[in-house]
Amino acid sequence: MNEYPWQEFESRIARRDFRGITKDVLPTPAMLVDLDILERNLQTMADYTKSVGIGLRPHAKVHKSVDIARRQVALGAIGITTATIAESELMSNAGIENVLWTKQPVSRNNIARTIALAKRDATFLFTVDDPQVVDWVEQAAEAADAHCRVIVALYAGIARQGIEGGAAALELAWRVASSKRLRFEGFMAYSATASHTKGWQERKRISADDLTGLQETLHLSKRAGLEVKIVTGGSTGTYNIDKDYGLTELQCGSYVFMDTSYFPLGTRESDGIYSDFGGSLTVLTTVDSKRHPGRAAIDYGNKAMARPTDQVKGMPWVSVGNQGAEYGALLWKEGDVTREPQLGDRLEIYCSNLDMSTNCYDRYYVARGGEIVDVWPIMGRAGAAQR
Ligand SMILES: Cc1ncc(COP(=O)(O)O)c(C=O)c1O
Repeated sequence: MNEYPWQEFESRIARRDFRGITKDVLPTPAMLVDLDILERNLQTMADYTKSVGIGLRPHAKVHKSVDIARRQVALGAIGITTATIAESELMSNAGIENVLWTKQPVSRNNIARTIALAKRDATFLFTVDDPQVVDWVEQAAEAADAHCRVIVALYAGIARQGIEGGAAALELAWRVASSKRLRFEGFMAYSATASHTKGWQERKRISADDLTGLQETLHLSKRAGLEVKIVTGGSTGTYNIDKDYGLTELQCGSYVFMDTSYFPLGTRESDGIYSDFGGSLTVLTTVDSKRHPGRAAIDYGNKAMARPTDQVKGMPWVSVGNQGAEYGALLWKEGDVTREPQLGDRLEIYCSNLDMSTNCYDRYYVARGGEIVDVWPIMGRAGAAQR
């Protein structure tokens, strides 16, 4: 039995004294990062983007971790992509430059914060898809004596954001470019549908389809003499596709950890597991009751984002079920198993959607083998901190 002094757990973590902290002593459910696999993923993407000459501005909504963002930048990332103004403030305040916020400021609150951030961090960028927003931002920038770097977001297959590519997009881009306070930097086109399509050829086909509006816009911009410095988009699923369609940089996020929605999508070479990047993130859970055949209860429940599409690491014959706020189920067919989970076992579970899961936990326990070697806060989660 490990004799770790429990009453000192939090104070030791606060002073970064990780001696004696192993996976066995962690309270569960807990989010674990396998540092060897994470480092490999970061390196693979950094090497790839360098080798083909495309920029990498990884999406931070997946990890919400300044520690990981800094590692990405140290390996050559040209900035960090964010999903909310709060994430943008967080990353910029931590000293990360060239933060790109992929939504547009619309509420008065968001416009004021966007202008304030642009004023104190001249490298910050954000997107717009509407002339009304350009006017609002222009007025606010004028009033605050600020200047902003702006990207025009194009529709690329999902109807949540983005102006139609072509003449309308070019007109909006000119409106930004001719403003006194806004600097036009380029276009964003993110093909969400392609990202999670099974089969590399099919991902490529959908990317090509979704990015036709971008092609047309780039063509018109060139003809009109509009300088386009940045063309941003892309995902973990299409990282080795997007350059062909005019992207100058990638916003991939999931590649750092990977999840079960990405595992089965296939690589360029084969249709099996998407093995370009490894599963570095798991939720550690404890089997805390086993009174019924073919099933056991774990402490990874609804509040911890347990889902039937999760997978148990190293035990493909066991599936995950929902049982309650603080209860999850492990399910297996008796007689069909190599090994049954036992009472008290500690198992690791790959989650189904990184963004949702990481948002539920306040820290990553960073492991090399069984040892915890670091603890990284997961920042700006849910509630007020996320907005
Ligand atoms: C705008 C945008 N860019 C990039 C990404 C990153 O995609 P992935 O995590 O699949 O790499 C996302 C993910 O949802 C996104 O919404």
